[in-house]
Amino acid sequence: MTDTRESSTRDNAAHSERFAPSAEFAAGAVASRDLYDAAEADRLEFWADQSRQLIHWHKPFTEVLDWSGAPVARWFGDGELNVAYNCLDRHVLAGNGDRVALHWEGEPGDTRTLTYAELTAEVKRAANLLTSLGIRHGDRVAIYLPMIPEAVIAMLAVARIGAVHSVVFGGFSAESLRARIDDAQAKLVITADGSWRKGKVSPLKPAVDAALERGETTVEHLLVVRRAWPDGEKLNWVQGRDLWWDEEIAQVDADHVARGFEAENPLFILYTSGTTGKPKGILHTSGGYLTQAAFTHRNVFDLHPESDVYWCTADVGWITGHSYVVYGPLANGATQLLYEGTPDAPGPGRWWELIEKYGVTILYTAPTAIRSFMKAGRDIPERSDLSSLRLLGSVGEPINPEAWLWYRSVIGGDSTPVVDTWWQTETGGIMISALPGVTETKPGAAQVPLPGISVEVVDDAGEPIEHGDGLLAVTKPWPGMLRGIWGDPERYVETYWSRFADAPDGPWYFAGDGARKDEDGDIWLLGRVDDVMNVSGHRLSTAEIESALVAHPWVAEAAVVGASDETTGQAVVAFVIIRARHRETVSAEGADSLRGHVAEQIGAIARPRQVFVVDELPKTRSGKIMRRLLRDLAEGREIGDTTTLADTTVMQIITDEVNDSR
Ligand code: WT7
Repeated sequence: MTDTRESSTRDNAAHSERFAPSAEFAAGAVASRDLYDAAEADRLEFWADQSRQLIHWHKPFTEVLDWSGAPVARWFGDGELNVAYNCLDRHVLAGNGDRVALHWEGEPGDTRTLTYAELTAEVKRAANLLTSLGIRHGDRVAIYLPMIPEAVIAMLAVARIGAVHSVVFGGFSAESLRARIDDAQAKLVITADGSWRKGKVSPLKPAVDAALERGETTVEHLLVVRRAWPDGEKLNWVQGRDLWWDEEIAQVDADHVARGFEAENPLFILYTSGTTGKPKGILHTSGGYLTQAAFTHRNVFDLHPESDVYWCTADVGWITGHSYVVYGPLANGATQLLYEGTPDAPGPGRWWELIEKYGVTILYTAPTAIRSFMKAGRDIPERSDLSSLRLLGSVGEPINPEAWLWYRSVIGGDSTPVVDTWWQTETGGIMISALPGVTETKPGAAQVPLPGISVEVVDDAGEPIEHGDGLLAVTKPWPGMLRGIWGDPERYVETYWSRFADAPDGPWYFAGDGARKDEDGDIWLLGRVDDVMNVSGHRLSTAEIESALVAHPWVAEAAVVGASDETTGQAVVAFVIIRARHRETVSAEGADSLRGHVAEQIGAIARPRQVFVVDELPKTRSGKIMRRLLRDLAEGREIGDTTTLADTTVMQIITDEVNDSR
């Protein structure tokens, strides 16, 4: 069956419709087939070339990859660079100082524009400020800021002096912030009084205060950006510890010379959820990371820095914000939009109004957002002129073909390429994606590894499969790969490198994702194969939420699953056993306050959609909770095989309890 549209073909199989690049797009495309050929011919030379082209090296490297310390890689090991210089000064020196780096818009509608020259000047001052507060090469700085220009400035200032940032998403609780501060032993926290969300001020500094109250800390100072309350009247202030960013920055020198640091100098730590209750501090370094961020940003988003207006909607608190708001785009001299607030404030069309206002040409967002816009109806985006858009990207979770097609048709005016990009906090940059203008796109599939990236879909024994379902493995080291888990080298090896330790030219990297290779060799991501959930593109661990639940005095035991959800991909569903002495209270009040408790403990993104009170949990004879069965229940399916349960009747009891409370 052939589709009538010129650029589209449809096979017999459902969802294998493909879209060929238009001749016009292909003619102007940044990427070309040559990239695949060059990487195929000599993978290391390919990355070395890209790095030389895209990055300014203070001291050129002569080594490309040293894998002798596997699984810790060294890329461009004898070279030196300054990451911030690459994102700032060199664009100014090349005559592009007047180009807009950031068009920022606050949720209330206030705006700020920063050219590359202005952003460079801000970062130089901020670097001097950090130095004046005693921050040195290698020190850790926690950043807990909303989406305001200072978030970008702070990250680059830390990078500029060779220190290490740990950005903590502003939606995380005081408790989560504290755990991250302690793990990294941060000396300084950069925060704001608050930020604007849904028409209200959402306080931030009070959360930092609460975090720092919990016993002795390594934090010496708090730098506070004035955002929400111009007079600061509502804030608690610790003399000697707390400093206003604007007052301090006015007092430091405007000039700052960026020195080179070694390629493997740590750039940042970013915490992400794993299979245990304790988040992992993913460590990224400088030269390889920046190379991959810049290469992928340029080629996957077909960036024409002189004319494009790029917008990645991710918060800088996530890896997407690190690689595709800060480092990739700025290394490439892109002009981008930064927006503080939520998509629906003040009205449901805010994003589309922003795209029209700033003439956004490239949009990078998450399937969960696309699905909620789909639900709200196409008439909302149709009120704005979206004709400036020429390329759309998706990230964070599998995008279902329906959402992909809606995105292309309603937002992309039936003509833009849509690139579905697979990667992780750990990979540092995009790994699997079509290249626009080169690859035909296929709704629902992330498709093909990028040039220079080697992946396989393997069976349980670690054998690559031609097609069918298996596990995703990365078979060769890549420049942006994590260099470890902060303070826990064993967990690094155990989590990522033990599963395929014996691969022929191993070890191979275990991504934790299930994947399918179809008849064309295209890769479809099938979701996590471990106890990690993906809610609205955010990673959450079942163990972390379970431990938050059992920390509540009511709760004796808890089991958490990720149940499929129409909008958020997965939703958190919890099953709890209540301690005998609290049962009466819970039957009177209900268990709903436990949802709020989780939000307070971890952050609003972790708030369970439902909490069911049960008398028992399904366990194997060895005591392991069978979450698979609870997921069947939460998703309203028939309960799967229960024969390995210690007590096979327990699922019937739980099912009745859950149905009674529904
Ligand atoms: C996990 C990584 C990388 C940026 C945001 C998330 C899932 C990510 C896709 C995609 C299917 C995807 C995977 C992965 N994921 N992108 N295009 N298709 N699944 O980063 O929080 O480190 O989560 O997100 O399950 O392992 P993260």
